[in-house]
Amino acid sequence: MNTIAHQRCTNPACATTYAVTQTLTSCAKCGELLDICYDWDKVRVPKHLRDFESRWGHRRFPLDHSGVWRFRDLLPFAGDAMVCTIGEGQTFLQNAQCLGRQLGMWPGQLYLQYEGMNPSGSFKDNGMTAAFTHARMVGATHVACASTGNTSASLAVYAAQCGFQGVVFIGSGKIAFGKLSQALDYGAKTLQIAGDFDACLRRVREVSSQLGLYLMNSVNPFRLEGQKSIMYRILESLAWEAPDWIVVPGGNLGNCSAFGKAYMELLELGLVKRAPRLAIINAQGANTLHTLVNRDGLKWNNGHVDNAPIKNLYQQMDQSQYHPHTIASAIEISRPVNLKKALRALHVMNGVVTEVTDEEILEAKALVGRYGFGCEPASAATIAGLQQLLSRQIIGRQERVVCILTGHGLKDPDATVHYHTGVKTKNAIQPAAEPTWGRIANPPIQVADDVEAIIRALGITQDTNKPTHKGYVPSPADLPSVEY
Ligand code: F0G
Repeated sequence: MNTIAHQRCTNPACATTYAVTQTLTSCAKCGELLDICYDWDKVRVPKHLRDFESRWGHRRFPLDHSGVWRFRDLLPFAGDAMVCTIGEGQTFLQNAQCLGRQLGMWPGQLYLQYEGMNPSGSFKDNGMTAAFTHARMVGATHVACASTGNTSASLAVYAAQCGFQGVVFIGSGKIAFGKLSQALDYGAKTLQIAGDFDACLRRVREVSSQLGLYLMNSVNPFRLEGQKSIMYRILESLAWEAPDWIVVPGGNLGNCSAFGKAYMELLELGLVKRAPRLAIINAQGANTLHTLVNRDGLKWNNGHVDNAPIKNLYQQMDQSQYHPHTIASAIEISRPVNLKKALRALHVMNGVVTEVTDEEILEAKALVGRYGFGCEPASAATIAGLQQLLSRQIIGRQERVVCILTGHGLKDPDATVHYHTGVKTKNAIQPAAEPTWGRIANPPIQVADDVEAIIRALGITQDTNKPTHKGYVPSPADLPSVEY
């Protein structure tokens, strides 16, 4: 029994608690999001953040090598033996002198945090290592997610390396090829649902609860525990001094929520004196948070969030059959599941939200690429947002700013080639009628936006998905037998 950590409903009027050994993605009583909470009196948290530096020398110990788990005292929900790590979090903070100068900032004040340097090429690995660790704790065998691409790539990498069967739901024609290629290559069962990300997430939640699949989307509170480490690494790179601003793209709003929780806890523990301000950047074609915060004045309000504007907006979207649309496919989401936690992050980090157009995103992406180390379109929304916030004098030119580049430039080469040449390279993701596939080919399965059809296509039953409690069992038997 873990007496240090528990799960707690974020709705203060409910605040129901659950053991960390339970697998939940919302409060069983009121349906609101869950947090992982700690009894800090029982944790040996270092007195100063710089005490974490003592782990830098231990490169051969996987937990100290990981950029997530070297901060494990700040996410102490699992024993060391349970941790699923593949060396995530070896990312770096780069001082972007030239780009900063181009944006009219004071010298040395712009930094880029390259989360694309993770094993699967995006920031998702920070969260996946934590959620897989929890999946191992509860003996899960099958793990599932809906994804705009990066979550599925990350899930597929961890499933393949840590001995789980991965299942991913992607929207039809909605995924960048770099990301799709990862899910297929790493052997995840890939269902292409006739719908967008919001439909995929709805379906994967239904199917997971019917079949007992372990859900890896950011409604899983353990995912967000791992993503807190991005804030720790930025502090580490800046000699433990918080920057003035963190700028992050907003999609399902898990990442910004994790950042807010990281600073909430660091402040509570007295490990930092102040939090940076937070700027969350929506794409104009997927701007739910921007609309609710800036048009409707929605606030965290100590957890008593007014549900009426959210309900109204979602009703309007349903009535007009609205579907989000942006070149930044990673953040093409209109019903962000972590909306309320993002409001909390805005409160904790005195944040702002804004929106940028696709044209601004693409120009910013090319600019990041021009100075070396590119990023995918969603990540470049941060630079486009920064440009706008500088010109509106919300961010000062003398302030120290960190933009989170969430995904690698090679994730979406189509967007890049199209920007530079005008040529669209993306073909339909229809497997060829006359297959010329290899022996362990894993083509995506096209399926209607319908639970029964999805379950049939998956071929998984509750019986084949019994918890094993065996822990880590990487098995070559999971591959079809192939004679070489
Ligand atoms: N940037 C990239 C590259 C992403 O892949 C995502 C989300 C975000 C930003 C937004 O992060 O959801 O925490 O606000 N991608 C998800 C996916 C939704 O399925 O890969 P968020």
